[in-house]
Amino acid sequence: MSIFNSIEVLVVDDEPNIQKLFVRELANPGRNIRTAGTGAEARAILRSAAVDVVVLDIRLPDENGLGLMEHIQETCPHAAIVLITGYADVDTAVQAMKAGAYDYITKPFSLERMEQVIERAYQKVRLVRENELLRHGAVDSTKAPKFIGHSAAVQQVRYLIERVAPTDTPVLLTGESGTGKNVAAAAIHAQSLRADQPFIVTNCANFDKELLRSELFGYCKGAFTGADRSHEGLLPLAHKGTLFFDEVGELSLELQAALLRVLETGRFRRVGDKEERHVDVRFLFATNRDLAREVEAGRFHDAFYHRINVFTIELPPLRERREDIPALVEYFLHSLAKNGQSYQITPAAMQQLMKSSWPGNVRELRNVIERGMILAEGGVIGVKALPFCQKTCRTPRETGFSTLEELERAHIALVLHAVEGNKSKAAQILGIGRKTLYRKLTEFGLESSTAMSPLGQ
Ligand SMILES: Nc1ncnc2c1ncn2[C@@H]1O[C@H](COP(=O)(O)OP(=O)(O)OP(=O)(O)O)[C@@H](O)[C@H]1O
Ligand SMILES: [Mg+2]
Repeated sequence: MSIFNSIEVLVVDDEPNIQKLFVRELANPGRNIRTAGTGAEARAILRSAAVDVVVLDIRLPDENGLGLMEHIQETCPHAAIVLITGYADVDTAVQAMKAGAYDYITKPFSLERMEQVIERAYQKVRLVRENELLRHGAVDSTKAPKFIGHSAAVQQVRYLIERVAPTDTPVLLTGESGTGKNVAAAAIHAQSLRADQPFIVTNCANFDKELLRSELFGYCKGAFTGADRSHEGLLPLAHKGTLFFDEVGELSLELQAALLRVLETGRFRRVGDKEERHVDVRFLFATNRDLAREVEAGRFHDAFYHRINVFTIELPPLRERREDIPALVEYFLHSLAKNGQSYQITPAAMQQLMKSSWPGNVRELRNVIERGMILAEGGVIGVKALPFCQKTCRTPRETGFSTLEELERAHIALVLHAVEGNKSKAAQILGIGRKTLYRKLTEFGLESSTAMSPLGQ
């Protein structure tokens, strides 16, 4: 998984010529070089940027390089430190290596050698960070499932995603369980300018209050019992990328207040730290709760709600866009198939799927198809292969029956899909005139289904 595409290097050396040399010779589009002439300057940069490799002269005008090294290990535990030393400093260099420096180079050094060391140091940092990101739920959004569907409701969702993706505005995704909120979040990240940076999904329901705070913000050595080394939180790991808070309705009031501050200022403080740090993160949120009602009940922070509710995208339930079912079914038949085996579904089985009410939405449909594929005979899913559907799929109304209108709409969508949008053919199969078909398409809001391709792409 490649989530980083540029190295951040900080060169701390009081020689202006050395600084210039690094910038002139070693900076390139994939390697950003910042320079600091003093310990104080370096500390300021470390507060506001995620640094991968620090090249550090052991002798600085305002402080000892080893002291600064300790500070770097505290504030940027992932950064690899490469020391520049004179011949007289070999003992100090050995001491620094013992204390965790990645390598040292004695002056005078060749640029070629310096470049090699920086690259090797970066490979190590990258591995550690990638492991950490994976452990924290980083997702390779390029492998995210496609957002399938051509119903008017889904087209509207797709339009909103396209418009909001390139901005840094927080987005709140709402909708019933299984409607595709996670798929939509991955799509927003993938279409954003941050697409090649980390996309981290964190589920607020999985953490207890204290754990989430230290996971999010990180902590300093000695911040609490057991904190024997400092720990990088999710926020700095997501720097330049996107952080997606799933089930945000589960977030405690205290953490909502702390996050509100990050949303407003980009600043946060690690647990046990006196200094504030800055991050550049885009936030996405999802919930299947009615947050406005949670606010009224005093379970959700008013100001936080307004901050995350700037741009809301509601994912419609599947029963309100049954015309997407054929495309979704074909997509799942395709994407879930193993060893090149191909599957088909009989018209009667498809009718069955179109009639169901899908309380578990797209997730339920996906599961039904997966089971159907196991029970398929000769690669054909018939009604018999959908026993789970018969059992779990309820009809939409409390009366236990669909209305004629619902059935008519679903049937028209199904036939249109089968003839790939050809209206003359559809009208013929349905036994009605073209004009009547057009009227019904308008009435049912199905005009756009004519453009539907078999895989809905
Ligand atoms: N439009 C879609 N196109 C393709 N697959 C979809 C679509 N919507 C949902 N899915 C699939 O349905 C399943 C559920 O989707 P997802 O996890 O995004 O739902 P959710 O709204 O986040 O649900 P929950 O509230 O339970 O977390 C996943 O397997 C996802 O790949
Ligand atoms: Mg989800």
